[in-house]
Amino acid sequence: MQQNASLPLAIHGAAGRLGSALVDMALKEGSWALEGATVSPASRLLGQPLSPNELALTYQAELPPKLPAGTVVIDVSRAEAVAAHAAQAAQAGWPLIVGVTGLDAVTEAALAAAAERIPVLLAPNFSLGVALLRQLVQDAALVLGPDFDIGILDVHHRHKRDAPSGTGRSLSEALAAVGRSAEIVSQRLGAVIGDHTVSFAGPGERLVLSHQAEDRALFARGALAAAQFLRAQPPGTFEMADVLAARRALQSFAVDKRPS
Ligand SMILES: NC(=O)c1ccc[n+]([C@@H]2O[C@H](COP(=O)([O-])OP(=O)(O)OC[C@H]3O[C@@H](n4cnc5c(N)ncnc54)[C@H](OP(=O)(O)O)[C@@H]3O)[C@@H](O)[C@H]2O)c1
Repeated sequence: MQQNASLPLAIHGAAGRLGSALVDMALKEGSWALEGATVSPASRLLGQPLSPNELALTYQAELPPKLPAGTVVIDVSRAEAVAAHAAQAAQAGWPLIVGVTGLDAVTEAALAAAAERIPVLLAPNFSLGVALLRQLVQDAALVLGPDFDIGILDVHHRHKRDAPSGTGRSLSEALAAVGRSAEIVSQRLGAVIGDHTVSFAGPGERLVLSHQAEDRALFARGALAAAQFLRAQPPGTFEMADVLAARRALQSFAVDKRPS
């Protein structure tokens, strides 16, 4: 366990592209105590230390049944593993953050059941910028109205397993919530980390709202912000919009307190 750190954290899928970025950031930040890190049961990393400076913490196939009170679990493994991870977290009382995308209906039902006992935050995209994009897109759809056609483009690296992306679908859901639909076009190209563009094309003008992920560390940063938020929440389902709202309230308070 990492010394001089106070907030207990465990990560499923710790050796993946996103999981390893999360491990690196949690170890670097110093305010997190990594209590558990899982890899797939067939991984050659099982039993290996996470880093040369963390010899006591090794990759495991499962999280130990006992973790320190308040441990937040972040799942960035595979869609087919999430339901079991949710059942374990609910049983143990660990707040759970799910960053995995491409979840099926059975897994979504397992997460809804877990949310009756623990706080569960579903984040197909950990970026605060994307959470804001969802809100801007809703606002644009409402203001511009039906004269504007809407299209979503999702571009990701060639190894991404699901299409359309979880973020593309969540942008589409945000639009559906205000009565609009949009076709999602997915491209899988090279090493692109993740680009999402929403275009509004109307009479004589086009509004294009776009977000580009430039560094995987951005997702790790957002996931840790979500973990900070979720540890203080009651059972229920949360999303990055809730993290954004808490952040907005905090910043507004800081602005109000500024001497005039
Ligand atoms: N929320 C966000 O902001 C965000 C950002 C990027 C990606 N994602 C999503 O996060 C997920 C992971 O993405 P990635 O790019 O990091 O994929 P990845 O590199 O394939 O990482 C997934 C890791 O999970 C491991 N794994 C498989 N089964 C497991 C199990 N039962 N328990 C623990 N670990 C297990 C895999 O190990 P093996 O390779 O040995 O099977 C792999 O190392 C995907 O669903 C992706 O779409 C979300």
